Amino acid sequence: MFVLRVCSLLLLVGLSLEAPRSFSVDYKDDCFRKDGEKFRYISGSIHYSRIPRVYWKDRLLKMYMAGLNAIQTYIPWNYHEEAPGRFSFSGDRDVEYFLKLAQDIGLLVILRPGPYICAEWDMGGLPAWLLDKKDMVLRSSDPDYVAAVDKWMGKLLPMIKPYLYQNGGPVITVQVENEYGSYFACDYNYMRHLAKLFRSYLGDEVVLFTTDGAGLGYLKCGAIQGLYATVDFGPGSNVTAAFDAQRHAEPHGPLVNSEFYTGWLDHWGSPHSVVSAAKVAKSLSEILAVGANVNLYMFIGGTNFAYWNGANSPYEAQPTSYDYDAPLTEAGDLTEKYFAIRDVIKMYKEIPEGPIPPTTPKYAYGPVTMKKLQTVSDALETLSFSGPVKSMYPQTFVDLKQAFGFVLYRTTLPVNCSKPTPLSSPLNGVHDRAYVSVDGVAVGILERNKVLSVNVTGIAGSQLDLLVENMGRINYGKDINDFKGLVSNMTLGSDTLSGWTMYSLSIDEAVSHGLLRDREADPQTDPPPPAVPSLPAFYRGSFVIPDGIPDLPQDTYIKLPKWRKGQIWINGFNLGRYWPSRGPQVTLFVPANILSTAAPNNVTVLELEGSPCSSEPCNVEFTDTPILNATVHQQYLRRYVKEDLL
Ligand SMILES: *[C@@H]1O[C@H](CO)[C@@H](O)[C@H](O)[C@H]1NC(C)=O
Ligand SMILES: *[C@@H]1O[C@H](CO)[C@@H](O)[C@H](O)[C@H]1NC(C)=O
Ligand SMILES: *[C@@H]1O[C@H](CO)[C@@H](O)[C@H](O)[C@H]1NC(C)=O
Ligand SMILES: *[C@@H]1O[C@H](CO)[C@@H](O)[C@H](O)[C@H]1NC(C)=O
Ligand SMILES: *[C@@H]1O[C@H](CO)[C@@H](O)[C@H](O)[C@H]1NC(C)=O
Ligand SMILES: *[C@@H]1O[C@H](CO)[C@@H](O)[C@H](O)[C@H]1NC(C)=O
Repeated sequence: MFVLRVCSLLLLVGLSLEAPRSFSVDYKDDCFRKDGEKFRYISGSIHYSRIPRVYWKDRLLKMYMAGLNAIQTYIPWNYHEEAPGRFSFSGDRDVEYFLKLAQDIGLLVILRPGPYICAEWDMGGLPAWLLDKKDMVLRSSDPDYVAAVDKWMGKLLPMIKPYLYQNGGPVITVQVENEYGSYFACDYNYMRHLAKLFRSYLGDEVVLFTTDGAGLGYLKCGAIQGLYATVDFGPGSNVTAAFDAQRHAEPHGPLVNSEFYTGWLDHWGSPHSVVSAAKVAKSLSEILAVGANVNLYMFIGGTNFAYWNGANSPYEAQPTSYDYDAPLTEAGDLTEKYFAIRDVIKMYKEIPEGPIPPTTPKYAYGPVTMKKLQTVSDALETLSFSGPVKSMYPQTFVDLKQAFGFVLYRTTLPVNCSKPTPLSSPLNGVHDRAYVSVDGVAVGILERNKVLSVNVTGIAGSQLDLLVENMGRINYGKDINDFKGLVSNMTLGSDTLSGWTMYSLSIDEAVSHGLLRDREADPQTDPPPPAVPSLPAFYRGSFVIPDGIPDLPQDTYIKLPKWRKGQIWINGFNLGRYWPSRGPQVTLFVPANILSTAAPNNVTVLELEGSPCSSEPCNVEFTDTPILNATVHQQYLRRYVKEDLL
């Protein structure tokens, strides 16, 4: 009893004698200090929102085993506040659990809560409902924008506070905004407001920082007093010149590259981006040799599941895969680049002993026969939960209170069009793609910036349908107020079309509740197999995980040879968009956790342009090998606007 008491007393004394946990910028010795000691981080970006929760631990462990001592993650506002005041922090959105896992594994955290994050994520993480105020100046002192930010941060930051390093958690630094110097507004009052807001919730001690392109032009509007200024630059850059830019904003303190690009993003219709392991390793070594801190963006990219991909302006949408040619693939696989980076880190710091978690096995479940279900217009009653809305001129997704997916716009031809008559969007207002039909016959596709007019024929009173797809909101630059749907009037010949009926479609809910029906069609009177395009329609198939093979289900990839463009769900989980007819992405990553051994697995496809089913086998196929680099339409090639940051 006595002994025990002494022990616990000693323990208490021991604890209270321990220096308090601290993390700070040392302006004298040009470094960070952790618990008073000189500290340098070698970090990697991982976005929990792009990885199924069950795989967080595996990916973090692989990062730790590469020799990283920190990770960096964004918090996408629109992922957590789907409607004003409606928050979601559970399951795949459980950011607190993610932070705890990182800490358990031995990784510090560099947190980037935005509010704007860019990230090739829908609208740069800003919720689309902000656009309820039509002329809102996002990322500025616009009072309505700031009020929404204040509410969100009032929810988020108190949640984060216990995870700060000085409070016993893993979070060493917190970024305010993101690359603000690349944005036109240059509103210092906005940045000052954010700095004060973050301070008020997180305390005086936390290191707050900004990140901008490594050029004086970017730092001019991005760096403000009270927030430590860091820079972004990729392999092949002149490291000295890049850090000279940081030194211009921060004459003293640690050198920090907050985004050292291990690869690059993709766009539909452009070649897959690849950056060689040797090039990454060489620049990383140069950065570490000058004693700088570095974050590798991305260390694992992951997947834009469902509708979460962003887009660039002029409008080019990013694909479902966010593989990024990162050292860990979209599926978390180890690559040559992973080992090259680990070898570089090994020259500058000790790396952990022990086995690296292996690449997870993939399984080729093979072909699955699909059966055609209803078309979208056949299923309107089922899909339009809220019923149609009527108005003289088209309303946008935001007007209709719909954030993602598809809206069907319906009207009638006001005049006889016995000759082909152009149906046009003179102001380029189809955001982003419209599948057009007249009296139930597909007649063409309109596409933002690319196809602004399609010819139609039909008599006055014919039903005109435009199924409009939101392909992802612009996430970078001045065009992030990216309204979706028909955002300006449609004309037919010289007439402005009016008298619209709009159906907001709850396709995800209908798919997961199994509401879609087989098509009610009499083969005798079925029209002959249509050419491309055909009416947007649903297809369903199922497959069983084979018995007697150990460790199934395993991860897999799905491909849709000869299918054109659409959306795929497996067991109600929205895997994302497929578009093999444009590329470069051909396969979609299917994580094992959405597969079942207890019941047949249900694959639902919404094909927007035309399936192979009327003339060829109606199959989708599960394969064990990803294909991300098959660009089909080179004519869509356009250079990415942000490349000048590299
Ligand atoms: C890199 O930049 C520094 C500083 O601007 C300059 O002195 C040096 O010549 C540059 N190196 C190369 C290889 O361009
Ligand atoms: C349109 O065409 C139909 C059938 O060809 C004809 O009966 C009708 O009068 C025409 N309407 C107009 C407004 O020209
Ligand atoms: C539409 O039809 C007209 C002839 O009526 C033709 O000149 C034009 O090229 C067609 N436009 C398209 C986009 O097919
Ligand atoms: C559509 O046209 C009408 C009539 O010209 C006009 O009042 C309205 O503002 C237009 N709508 C849009 C979104 O341009
Ligand atoms: C697939 O759908 C069938 C029929 O609705 C259902 O019985 C089964 O449970 C579903 N499978 C899974 C894995 O949810
Ligand atoms: C695509 O990637 C694979 C695997 O890395 C490679 O073998 C193939 O040559 C690449 N194809 C193209 C067109 O770049």
